[in-house]
Amino acid sequence: MSAEVADRAVGAYRARFGAEPDGVWFAPGRVNLIGEHTDYTGGFVLPFALEAGVVVAAGRASGEAITVWSGQDSGAPRGVAVDALAPGLVSGWAAYPLGVAWSLREAGYRPAGTRLVVDADLAMGAGLSSSAALECATALALSDVAGLAVPRPELAALASGAENEFVGAPTGIMDQSAALLCQAGHALLLDCRSGATEDVPLDPGAAGLQLLVVDTGTRHVLTDGRYAQRRRACEEAARTLRVGSLRDLTDRPDDVGGLADPELRRRARHVVTENKRVLATAALLRRGALADVGPLLTASHASLRDDFDVSWPQADVVVESALSAGAVGARMMGGGFGGSALVLARGDLASDVEAAIAAAYAERRWQAPAVTVAVPSGSARRLR
Ligand code: GLA
Repeated sequence: MSAEVADRAVGAYRARFGAEPDGVWFAPGRVNLIGEHTDYTGGFVLPFALEAGVVVAAGRASGEAITVWSGQDSGAPRGVAVDALAPGLVSGWAAYPLGVAWSLREAGYRPAGTRLVVDADLAMGAGLSSSAALECATALALSDVAGLAVPRPELAALASGAENEFVGAPTGIMDQSAALLCQAGHALLLDCRSGATEDVPLDPGAAGLQLLVVDTGTRHVLTDGRYAQRRRACEEAARTLRVGSLRDLTDRPDDVGGLADPELRRRARHVVTENKRVLATAALLRRGALADVGPLLTASHASLRDDFDVSWPQADVVVESALSAGAVGARMMGGGFGGSALVLARGDLASDVEAAIAAAYAERRWQAPAVTVAVPSGSARRLR
């Protein structure tokens, strides 16, 4: 997070409210190395935190209202009394931070009247979990301003609950866990059923590699019904197979054969094979064998494209062109239908890979995608 963005948030707070904020809090966006559409079935994920994210300048206000504002928003600040917060009351971006205040209140952690000004150096809607970063920066700010001591795993669950119930996006726990629990230089192996975590070393630079995040230019929303459809299919598959969740199939050889419906079988097969790929990736990272992770990333993409049907044309083009230029692995990232792709490439080949992606885009008359090098960074924190 650049100091400039924090300064901007403080400046906007002063200008808007004529007072100094009590502090500035930050939460990062995330990259998911592997483990897609496994979190809401109690499976495994392996995300890491980015340097970029969302900042919130916040201060105690007299009265009981939680007021949110963004310098990038032409609208007026949105303020709601803590007791009046209820799902359905707020729409647009303000639903994320106000949803967190609601979630804290529902859990018995009463937020104080607080004013919050939001800013970011993370692309919004690019599949890097800008919404979870907004929720988690808000969650830390509200708890610190009110002097609430909420353990981070619980804060992640509350932020996720806000997204599910207040915003209405049926997402899992991965993004909020990444924002609040990741360590710099590591990916976070999270067992979404037990909540158990392990920090797995991830230092691409030291291995002569780069992890490139390619913003495919296609935007996505997680509330458009397709994400929810996939989630329902997984639940139906688990019911049909008489297991609590698809996670229970991770260790069984004949995992999804009992599903007669071919589409349901493909959906379930993605989840079962993806969980295995996450565990295999973590095992390789523990041995420092990041380059060997490449084929697992590419297999994850094929599974998301062919079995889970959540890839999109731009992501497929990024993956194909990156691999043909010598990348060791590549895949779409996040919930699907838009956002970013992840490419693992040797450092000395990264510019060739980038050029190949740009050329493939140009051939289709698509605008060149933005590419950034992802560095596994630290989790949410108070900046000042
Ligand atoms: C989105 C959701 C996550 C997760 C991914 C897919 O990012 O917010 O909970 O389900 O999609 O892996």
